[in-house]
Amino acid sequence: MTGRVHFIGAGPGAPDLLTLRGCRVLKESQLVYVAEPYDQIFAELLVGKEVRIPFDYYFDELISQVDEQLKSGNIAFLIPGDLTFYSPFQALLDHFSAVAEVIPGVGTANAASARLKKTFDLPGVCNRAIIASPRTLGDDNAPTISDLAAPGVALLIYMNNLPLDQLVADLRTGYGEDVPIAILHRLCLSGEEIVSGSLDTIVAQVGDRDFFNLKTADKRPALTLVVVGKTLDTSVDGSWWDYRRDHIWKFRSGVEK
Ligand SMILES: C[S@@+](CC[C@H](N)C(=O)[O-])C[C@H]1O[C@@H](n2cnc3c(N)ncnc32)[C@H](O)[C@@H]1O
Repeated sequence: MTGRVHFIGAGPGAPDLLTLRGCRVLKESQLVYVAEPYDQIFAELLVGKEVRIPFDYYFDELISQVDEQLKSGNIAFLIPGDLTFYSPFQALLDHFSAVAEVIPGVGTANAASARLKKTFDLPGVCNRAIIASPRTLGDDNAPTISDLAAPGVALLIYMNNLPLDQLVADLRTGYGEDVPIAILHRLCLSGEEIVSGSLDTIVAQVGDRDFFNLKTADKRPALTLVVVGKTLDTSVDGSWWDYRRDHIWKFRSGVEK
């Protein structure tokens, strides 16, 4: 092997949310593995390159192919969002670890926070944020979504596969009260839809829309993120800011008190 394998975090779907480093490495790569919809999103940056779809191959097939390709130079994988959460690329990374480099991207959680204009932890309101997916909570020993939902929790639910009324009922049990919820569908992509409401209103607000691909033959998780928690409808005043200025920031060395 002479080349390197770059795993480039592609961000949530807006081309200008690719990092400068990701963009540079992508431009330098002659062979790029990229799945839909990123092949269309980054079409301009992919002109003249050999483009392959990683999910067209079984793992061993893909490994042998990449091994061969590395004899001729570097290759890149454009990975959805960022590697940090729910990335299917870990086995490849482990295999090519010695010649691999990961370039961070803007994850869906970051894009959701930006779109909602809310931080997901907020002192006194949400003292923890939990990232989970009902798809990976399947086995007997794992907690359920209602075990994870609790007062003080901001919950980020990826790849939901529960019918919305069931998900909401589980969340209601965990939180023990009505709390704000936002459903972010195809963030930064064409057809983006964001529905903000509360556990008591969201089912009626969503109506017949199939945000989780539950009524189609398509087995892929829908590009939909669910965010729940009181931080979504809480506004804060400047008292926390002033408290930190009094107790922390004004004691920085070199700063006049
Ligand atoms: C296999 S995971 C990949 C997540 C990815 N590693 C990331 O950082 O965004 C796919 C899930 O991420 C969420 N997701 C990815 N892109 C999204 C988008 N543009 N809008 C809303 N949710 C998205 C959805 O929950 C989707 O089912």
